[in-house]
Amino acid sequence: MSAIFPRWTNSVPTILAVGSLGGAAIAAGSVWYWFTPSYWEVGYEPIQPVEYSHQTHVGKLGMDCRYCHTGVEESSEANIPATATCMNCHTGEGDVAMLNSDLWQAHKIDPNLLQVRTAFATGEPVQWRRVHKLPGYVQFNHAAHVRVGVSCYSCHGRVDQFAVVRQEKSLAMGWCLDCHRDPEPHLLENRDSMRDSAGFCEVTDLARAAELLSMAEQRERGKALANERNIFPPESCGACHN
Ligand code: HEC
Ligand code: HEC
Ligand code: HEC
Ligand code: HEC
Ligand code: HEC
Repeated sequence: MSAIFPRWTNSVPTILAVGSLGGAAIAAGSVWYWFTPSYWEVGYEPIQPVEYSHQTHVGKLGMDCRYCHTGVEESSEANIPATATCMNCHTGEGDVAMLNSDLWQAHKIDPNLLQVRTAFATGEPVQWRRVHKLPGYVQFNHAAHVRVGVSCYSCHGRVDQFAVVRQEKSLAMGWCLDCHRDPEPHLLENRDSMRDSAGFCEVTDLARAAELLSMAEQRERGKALANERNIFPPESCGACHN
């Protein structure tokens, strides 16, 4: 009997078990690494029901982010604008300045704009697809960041250049903490002008101005700004989870 099955085979089941456990751990490890939401959500770019372009409205027309995202400075949530906001310009009657231009005539029959006007007429909101989404167990407040002068671009990338919005940053815990430990390079100087939300351009121009500064200069300024504004971003668990 024992001649047919040599003694060492007794340990085969154990070796197999240990081996497959190791394999499972490696597989689980790579699944965790590659498929953890914070990893694959970078670059997430859903197809939107209307081809609305930030590149056109912010990059080309110079609109202020807060013209549409009106709540960012007062509220924890940034809002998506209602169709009525679009209708300030896209009634189809024509924007005063553009009424007679060929460009405007072309836009009157743009199928995306027809869709926007139809949405307004029927009162049925445009079903925009959400791009950035934190898990429910994380507390995040836009106003707390925007009011101390953290630029939209630090967290969302160069939205003014996006034809379609995509997620640029991981939104992972490590990403939040990296900035909380070293917020200085991300602080905009002209925080107060960001409050007067009537005008166009301000957020865009400020972020551009910040970009023109060298990192070193920006850091020096950031240090002074962080001091002046008494900025101490939290690192304790309870600040973001409770
Ligand atoms: C004319 C109105 C308008 C202006 C101005 C505007 N946005 Fe938007 N924004 C929208 C609309 C509509 C959506 C939803 C559709 C989409 O994602 O493209 C949106 C979506 C977004 C999203 C993604 C939201 C999500 O679902 O996660 C971000 C981030 C954003 N905007 C940032 C900005 C920033 C930063 C600026 C200024 C540089 C800006 N927006 C200016 C109308 C506007
Ligand atoms: C302040 C005025 C203004 C507001 C508000 C505005 N738009 Fe526009 N939009 C324009 C102008 C001007 C153009 C033409 C730009 C060009 O082609 O030079 C345009 C173009 C467009 C186009 C045609 C495609 C393109 O990118 O050129 C779409 C679609 C559009 N807008 C959708 C929207 C939506 C949706 C909203 C609301 C979330 C909105 N717009 C709010 C002024 C505005
Ligand atoms: C410190 C980082 C940070 C800054 C600064 C920031 N955002 Fe956000 N933004 C986020 C995060 C994180 C989310 C996802 C929030 C969630 O799911 O609760 C988000 C979500 C959004 C959304 C989607 C909200 C919705 O309800 O669909 C919009 C729009 C937006 N941001 C616009 C802006 C604009 C405009 C600015 C600048 C005025 C800005 N954000 C500044 C981190 C930031
Ligand atoms: C680009 C820099 C930056 C990023 C990224 C960032 N923060 Fe902050 N955060 C700040 C600064 C600056 C403050 C303000 C600190 C102060 O006022 O003393 C702050 C303050 C806070 C506060 C305390 C104020 C409040 O809301 O009660 C919380 C909580 C917070 N951040 C959560 C987050 C979370 C969650 C993320 C990631 C999803 C994040 N932050 C990403 C810079 C950042
Ligand atoms: C500045 C904000 C911030 C602070 C401070 C913070 N977290 Fe988080 N935490 C986050 C965010 C954002 C996520 C969501 C990450 C994601 O979606 O991948 C998260 C996720 C988690 C998760 C789930 C991880 C997973 O992979 O699903 C745990 C557990 C966690 N945090 C524990 C902690 C503990 C413990 C502390 C204190 C040592 C802490 N956090 C401090 C922002 C924070």
